[in-house]
Amino acid sequence: MDIRFVKREQLKEKPDQKNLGFGKYMTDYMFVMDWTKEDGWIDARIVPHEPISLDPACVTLHYAQETFEGMKAYRTKSGKIQLFRPEMNARRMIKSNERLCMPAFPEDMFVEAVKELVKVEKDWVPSEPGTSLYIRPFMFATESALGVHMASKYKFMVICCPVGAYYAEGINPVKILVEDELVRAVQGGTGFTKCGGNYAGSILGQVKAEKMGCTQVLWLDGVHRKYVEEVGTMNIMFKIGGEIYTAPIEGTVLPGVTRDSIIHILKDWGYKVNETHLAVDDLMKAGHDGTLEEAFGTGTAAVISPVGEFVYKDDIVKVNNFEIGKLTQKLYDYLTGIQWGDVEDKYGWTVDI
Ligand code: COI
Repeated sequence: MDIRFVKREQLKEKPDQKNLGFGKYMTDYMFVMDWTKEDGWIDARIVPHEPISLDPACVTLHYAQETFEGMKAYRTKSGKIQLFRPEMNARRMIKSNERLCMPAFPEDMFVEAVKELVKVEKDWVPSEPGTSLYIRPFMFATESALGVHMASKYKFMVICCPVGAYYAEGINPVKILVEDELVRAVQGGTGFTKCGGNYAGSILGQVKAEKMGCTQVLWLDGVHRKYVEEVGTMNIMFKIGGEIYTAPIEGTVLPGVTRDSIIHILKDWGYKVNETHLAVDDLMKAGHDGTLEEAFGTGTAAVISPVGEFVYKDDIVKVNNFEIGKLTQKLYDYLTGIQWGDVEDKYGWTVDI
């Protein structure tokens, strides 16, 4: 792929690596490519990160034809930069786009676009412990038209920002509200895709949780409001009676790259991983009878986020005395060890820039 480069007149000042937070500081450049019905994908370019102009009738502003991905570039102690399973993000975006009736962005072009942008932005990949360069590929319809239909024009873009921990709590346990009224996804819907609409619909639950003094929401299935599906924007796993439980990928749950990696590792470590429907009543019961040993969310942004407490109606269960579990910590250390190059990558998951 030929990528045109448009240089910035002045580079931005880099933020303090000790106070990055999440998603606040955008780098100097972005990758852009356009799709039209006639020409397919055209004009790959890396240009200064700056506002883009859209017609107020742009389809995306009205009907949310938008999908995105989230991935990271890590700086190892030797100074090398590496990605983590970027092809998984590329493939997931193709699946999301199929559901949203958007054109596929080919896997090889996706990985090349990300690699080339990170090469240009190499000085933005932070080196402080726990930091990385968050990479946000996304695609949206750019056609101006108010009829609801598949658009004739799209844009694929990649932007980046250096990040620290996603949650202010970092790797400390969080309090979770079990949401029994609002739902995130139903079979046949868009739950398995990474589309903006899924996240827009989740914000009310998040606000409700925060009002109740919780950090995140535990989403239940959309039909029975009974089975555990996801936590906030992450997949969720439980260690109950020595075995691991997590919701199956059957259309409502996002097929997380971190979820898949953790399942691989757990199976290699000899754990039985049950990808099954776990009823919230059984979860609370396990919390009370002491068999719920650990619970944690998995996602690219926070990697692993331990759960310290579940609040469900009038019931509360504490997990592992509100302390990070042994297995949760071990998984976090091992996976981030691979990502930051401190642990041998026997799976071949990392990709050098
Ligand atoms: C993730 O956990 O990686 C996410 O998808 C969070 C993102 C929406 C900020």
